[in-house]
Amino acid sequence: MTNKKAFIFDLDGVIVDTARYHYLAWQKLAQELGIEFTPEHNEHLKGVSRIRSLDIILDLGNIQATQEEKDKWLFDKNELYLSYLVDMDQSELLPGIIDTLKFLKENGQYIALGSASKNARPILEKTAIMPYFDAIVDGNDVTNAKPDPEVFLRACQLVFVAPEDSIVFEDSVAGVQAANAARMKSIGIGDKEILHEAEYIFPDFTTINEQFLRSLIDA
Ligand code: BG6
Ligand code: MG
Repeated sequence: MTNKKAFIFDLDGVIVDTARYHYLAWQKLAQELGIEFTPEHNEHLKGVSRIRSLDIILDLGNIQATQEEKDKWLFDKNELYLSYLVDMDQSELLPGIIDTLKFLKENGQYIALGSASKNARPILEKTAIMPYFDAIVDGNDVTNAKPDPEVFLRACQLVFVAPEDSIVFEDSVAGVQAANAARMKSIGIGDKEILHEAEYIFPDFTTINEQFLRSLIDA
């Protein structure tokens, strides 16, 4: 019997080391607005949409803004973020991710992207990993941001796999909550205290071995 599961990967901070670029770009904006913005605050921005991220920052500084101001800040933040990606190549893939993608592909599994980012596709191109993906759902495709499960439910639908046969890799609290809300297996990549709601937690992909991946396929 062949088992085909859907393995759904978040992008920023899971596949590629872009979480720090988002942080740097938001930090610059916060600084300009005189708002204190720490790595702890940043955990609340991980996985959530660009617009929601701005609102969280403005709330931190108790700042009311017009739509025009918000649009300008969103544009400026994204321009700065994109400037960090100009020279991006495969060297920015996080350790162990390629081996994991290869193993799943060689074992006939579906691989999907489930990201809040509207910049996901160019990043997959720049890092040359687009061919691994059977389905891509990103910030351009969904109306409800994580922790809403929409992004992951759409991803599993695209490969015709049930949510309970889907596995999500996430580095954000909002993403782990979205996977749990979708009734998928949630695997946290990062700090076990921060990601404690995940079913399994690993510091990075180098610590996920083939035996574990095989157990997910056979479950
Ligand atoms: C998520 C990131 O993947 O995408 C967030 O964790 C980011 O930090 C969000 O704000 C939206 O990304 P973008 O590229 O559309 O601004
Ligand atoms: Mg992420």
